Order: sequence, then C-alpha cells, then structure tokens
Amino acid sequence: MRTPIIAGNWKLNKTISEAVELTTELKDLVTATNNVDIVVAPPFTALDAVNKVVKDTNIELAAQDVYWEDSGAFTGEVSVPMLKDAGCEYVIVGHSERRQFFNETNESVNLKANAVLSHDMKPIICVGELLDDREAGRTESVIKNHVSGAVEKLTSDALLSCIIAYEPVWAIGTGKTATPEQAQEVHNYIRNILKETYSDEIASQVRIQYGGSVKPENAAELMAQPDVDGALVGGASLQAESFAQIVKNAI
Ligand code: 13P
Repeated sequence: MRTPIIAGNWKLNKTISEAVELTTELKDLVTATNNVDIVVAPPFTALDAVNKVVKDTNIELAAQDVYWEDSGAFTGEVSVPMLKDAGCEYVIVGHSERRQFFNETNESVNLKANAVLSHDMKPIICVGELLDDREAGRTESVIKNHVSGAVEKLTSDALLSCIIAYEPVWAIGTGKTATPEQAQEVHNYIRNILKETYSDEIASQVRIQYGGSVKPENAAELMAQPDVDGALVGGASLQAESFAQIVKNAI
C-alpha cells in the first residue's frame, strides 16, 4: 500500500514571517490528519524558521532545489548536508521551471537525485511534457527520457526512496488541469517504465504524484486514480485552507 504524499511547492513566494504564519495555520488544520505524508517546500531562506514550526508535527520539510557537491567553491549554491541541517527530509529536483529557466538537464537531475539519496534524504523528481510535445504526440517519449535520465544507475533500494512527480508543463499555473484519465495514463506509463527497468515489485512501491493546477475541487478525483499517489501543489499551497483541504482529499 502506497501512502499518499501531498507536497506544497511554494516556489518564489513567502518571506520568513509569512512562511511561519502559513505553516502555523496549516499545522492546526492538519493536526488530526493521518495516513498521508504532508510536505511543504518553502524558499531556502525560510527553511530553518519553518522547521521550528513543523518539528514534532505531521508536516515534513522539503527544499525546492539543491546542488550536488557537498561543499566547495560554488558561489550561490546550497548543498544536501546544508538542507539536512536545516531540517529537510525531501528535495524537489528537475522542476520544469528549473529545466526551462535555469538550464536543468536530465544529467543534473540525476546528479542531484544521487546526492540527495546519498544523505538518506528523498528526491521528488519532476517530469513532464510541454504542450507542444503533447500536441505532437511526444508525451511518452518525453516522459521516458525524463524518467530514465533521472533514475539512471540508481539501485532498487535508492529508487524506493524516490518520489516521481508528473507535472505536465501546460497544466502548471494555468488553471488547466490534466483530466484524471490523462493523469492516470501517464502515471501508469511511468510505472511501466520502472517495471521494465527494475521489477513489478519495486515499481509498485514507488509513489507518483500529480502536479499542475491541483485545487481542493479537483484533488479527490485525481487521487482516486489507481496510479496517482498524491499531489505536488503550487498556487493552492500558498493558502493554508486550500492546501489543508487538498491534504484531506487525498485519503
Ligand atoms: P500549480 O499548482 O500552481 O499549477 O503549480 C504546480 C507546480 O509546479 C508544483 O510544483
């Protein structure tokens, strides 16, 4: 049985005080919610403050990106040990916004995933096609390329610590959600890639989240799909009420 995982990717939003306020409100709303992993991904600057709020609660902490070296002359970067020290359990890697605006490649996603895993943390690996890809019938080839590139040379044990997030780029921040059937089709395809590369048993344990305009109104039907194991939420995670409602709709 896969435990659903709902993660809020706050992107470039929230000062430290705003982040603390949002998390404090969220904490009270989800305190009695069990059987779902609840994760928030504030900007780097707010991680430590948010960690203090979520300590000893059912909310876990994620970072939105990382560099793969532990330390050294890499101005501007943040390493996995630093994120662990700040209280992170998860790190989002390969988000489409990073692929689009910051030259993220399959190779860097793989390096980042490996670095996260080597410190016993969990990468949330984002994959997803552009609208052009979908319209040209390239969805499967793009997804195969992203998934295979990200998990290349990972052992079965390492894969079990990974979460895959399917985020069709055309559905991010557009209000245009994939239908539950469209999401299920790609999630099933991702699971089949993992089956071919690893085994049925391993693939059936990996959690695959859907992301792209997830809201309280559409969360339940998306998560009712057999291969949809949670959500990676952008806009709707910036308000405690709507994020908490999505969390409750996951179970
Ligand atoms: P929205 O929920 O705002 O569409 O963003 C999705 C996303 O990119 C989460 O990582």
